[in-house]
Amino acid sequence: MIKYVIHGGKPLYGEIDISGAKNAAVAIIPAALMVDGPCRIENIPQISDVTMLLNILKEMGASVRTINRSTMEIDCSGIRKAEATFDMMRKIRASYYLIGAMLGRFRSAVVAMPGGCNFGGVRPIDQHIKGFEAMGAKVTLLQGGLINCATPNGLHGASIYLDVVSVGATINVMLAAALADGQTVIENAAREPHIVDLANFLNSMGADIRGAGTNVIKVRGVTQLHGGTYSIIPDQIEAGTYMAAVAGTGGDVLIRNVIPKHMDCISGKLREMGVTIIENGDSIRVIRSGPIRRTNFKTLPYPGFPTDMQPQVSTVLCLAQGTSMVTEGVWDNRYKYVDELAKMGARIKVDGRVAVIEGVEGLTGAPIRAMDLRAGAALVIAGLCASGVTEIDGVNYIERGYESIIEKLQGVGADIQAVSFPDEEAASPREVG
Ligand code: EPU
Repeated sequence: MIKYVIHGGKPLYGEIDISGAKNAAVAIIPAALMVDGPCRIENIPQISDVTMLLNILKEMGASVRTINRSTMEIDCSGIRKAEATFDMMRKIRASYYLIGAMLGRFRSAVVAMPGGCNFGGVRPIDQHIKGFEAMGAKVTLLQGGLINCATPNGLHGASIYLDVVSVGATINVMLAAALADGQTVIENAAREPHIVDLANFLNSMGADIRGAGTNVIKVRGVTQLHGGTYSIIPDQIEAGTYMAAVAGTGGDVLIRNVIPKHMDCISGKLREMGVTIIENGDSIRVIRSGPIRRTNFKTLPYPGFPTDMQPQVSTVLCLAQGTSMVTEGVWDNRYKYVDELAKMGARIKVDGRVAVIEGVEGLTGAPIRAMDLRAGAALVIAGLCASGVTEIDGVNYIERGYESIIEKLQGVGADIQAVSFPDEEAASPREVG
């Protein structure tokens, strides 16, 4: 088992390069299934969620060629069957994007229900199904947690109003609609940067999608998508995580390869907390030398403050002067990391979706466990800020979404190592993302 061992309490100085966006990559890779011919995809992050999705496509018959560290050529022309390897699908939530992609290409899909959950209780997919059904799909749950989608009368465009703003449902419906007959209109659509990135990818392969980035997306179905080259956007949440790390430890770090506009919702909050943020082209310089100021925030769909940054910024607020209030507006229960922070001396009270954080003078290193991806990133930040030694296990979660996190943090002066320990306490892998 690997643990991260952090000797904390050191400010961070230097430069960090941001990788391609995980949540764009995990939508674009399944989308490659719909394309006739090779797709060259650049700026793919090297994270285990990506590896798993590529393995699923390979098992289905795709050819995947590594061009260089972050560029792959994926050719799914050889795939003949709308059926994915069920065990692998259950390991990664985003594998459900294969449903939309298979429906578009094959007009049918047999997939495993995305398995497990680690925050928010059951993560429903009713809005995905509602969208597919509006387009003519018959969706049935088979024994063993399999989902069967058939289209006895074809797959046609439809008008779909999502009851909740759902990233996953917006993406899945957009995928199916790209190759459906006629026009689909998705209302109350999610507006996250990775939705725009997926639309740009599909459009560059011949799709006709308009309005991505607004809450009404219009997709005119085309008969075929052709191969091409596409570069994934930088990861907003990875960049935000390193910004929060500097906010917590203090220091001065240049974060390169970002789209500053995507960072506005995070930068604004960090500025309120006393952090200086200077945008310059595709870089952001983050400086924190004075005290951390208290604040309140609520997570919301984009362009609101992202739920995927809630644990990291809440962790920094543990060290603020005064009491802060955080409201989780997207997931029911995304505060599991709070008990771990308490072991380090944090004072947080959670009541339902609200956390009240009383700032303390300092955190103290302790053995702690990551419970999911972003909670894991938050614990790394806590360890970097704390005095003494912090040991984090469950780091497999963190490696699902952060490329080379150890090397990137070491590059700005953090004392963090991945260390092998005997296996008996290993956390069992569950689903994230
Ligand atoms: N919801 C429904 N019905 C649905 C779908 C969603 O009620 O059919 C609800 C959910 O229960 C939740 C809310 O709608 O309360 C938003 O869920 P959404 O569908 O937007 O989430 P997701 O697509 O499952 C993606 C990201 C998550 C991120 C959320 C919200 C990927 C692979 N995952 O999940 O990212 O938290 O959007 O922004 O894109 C992460 O990267 O760590 C992560 C968990």
